[in-house]
Amino acid sequence: MRLTRRQMLATGAAALLVPGRSRAATQTLVAKPGEVQLAPVGLPATPVWTFGGTTPGPELRLQQGKPFELMLDNALPEATTVHWHGIRVPNAMDGVAGLTQDPVLPGAGFRYAFTPPDAGTYWYHAHMNSVEQLSRGLSGPLVVEETDPPDVDRDEVLFLRDWRLVDPANVSPDFDNHHDMAHAGRLGNFVTVNAMTEQRQSVPRYSRLRLRLINAATDRVFELATSGLSGAIVAVDGMPVEAPLPIGQIFLGPGQRADLIVDVTAPEGEDALVADVFRGETFALASFTVTAPERERRAPDIPPLAQNPAQALALDLDAARIEPMEMQGGAMRGLRSGTYQGEQMDGRALATKGQYWSLNGQVNMPDAPWLTLSAGETLRIPFINATAFPHAMHLHGHHFREVYQNGTLGLWRDTILVDPGQVREVAFHADNPGRWLLHCHMLSHRMSGMATWIEVI
Ligand code: C2O
Ligand code: CU
Repeated sequence: MRLTRRQMLATGAAALLVPGRSRAATQTLVAKPGEVQLAPVGLPATPVWTFGGTTPGPELRLQQGKPFELMLDNALPEATTVHWHGIRVPNAMDGVAGLTQDPVLPGAGFRYAFTPPDAGTYWYHAHMNSVEQLSRGLSGPLVVEETDPPDVDRDEVLFLRDWRLVDPANVSPDFDNHHDMAHAGRLGNFVTVNAMTEQRQSVPRYSRLRLRLINAATDRVFELATSGLSGAIVAVDGMPVEAPLPIGQIFLGPGQRADLIVDVTAPEGEDALVADVFRGETFALASFTVTAPERERRAPDIPPLAQNPAQALALDLDAARIEPMEMQGGAMRGLRSGTYQGEQMDGRALATKGQYWSLNGQVNMPDAPWLTLSAGETLRIPFINATAFPHAMHLHGHHFREVYQNGTLGLWRDTILVDPGQVREVAFHADNPGRWLLHCHMLSHRMSGMATWIEVI
């Protein structure tokens, strides 16, 4: 079965449901198999892997600067871990199997404890056998609440992802599909927002909404736009922008987030939408049916959110060390050779090992870190995309800031989308000791070569 995007929309399967919110300071999250009705009614439910019985997992709400503790219990048939994407955690809590912790075996558990320093929109996901584990459902939203939150009527997560369903509603088991790895990754045939129901939300006209968009797809880039909503982008990847940005078209690479604050301005009886506008076609992802206003419209300008502590870290660009990273490989620009597991190999030999990409000639995780930095150093990385595909480069444990070609500083992010042929530079202040992964968040690329790590001592 192949569902077209239009069918998905027609079934209402892309509607909106806010999962249970969880506020407890200590809690248990059980990773376990489950089932969810993803395909249209009449087709079978889809066997999935869940955190806490649902996919996405429960919306975790943490308080900025307050300790958080969570016990992961693994009731899956294989080992797993949890990574707190975008949160500056102590290294031992980062959840990278084999680099920062041992895998959590079936029947075993692991206690995660950290204090989130920065407010904003994040997410958590398994960080082991990631293409398969995320494709099967092991991810969920995480919000770190500001001590002084902005004035809005509703605060909603829109957790976006795709699924590849076959026969007719099972997650396709071709997790190591070589064609996907060498191209744009594992793209699904079914897009969902939060959980999948036929539910539709209604909202009074002139309500002010905070919408937290999270791209939790393994490989898909979302191209989004809104209608009937007016406002601004107030944060990206959890970090407030200095001056709210016009919404226009929003490109979200895998792992990236955007927070919008918008007023519902569509007339009563109509729909306000967050839509996927990929290739000029519009498909609603979240629909808000507008009801009678319950208040006057607020002043239209959206005040900026308070900056996070991460954004106060000094970036001394002139004194900074510069280490370019060239991305190579993939279809159309195949790798000639690369170093894989300590051995120099040609492209053909690499392909037989399921390896298609390199970072500065290194294919997949090296034994020694790409770089060792001393705490307090500023590093600049120009990402040079010499491939024919976009890549979403993600650094663990830190936030970086884009450096434009004229030397001015751009947005703070933890994941940057670099288009084919582009050079995009980032700078960050290495202040968090430990071993930190740096990888493409298109997880099919990560698995087939685009992963390395740095060490901060
Ligand atoms: Cu979102 Cu290495 O992770
Ligand atoms: Cu990539």
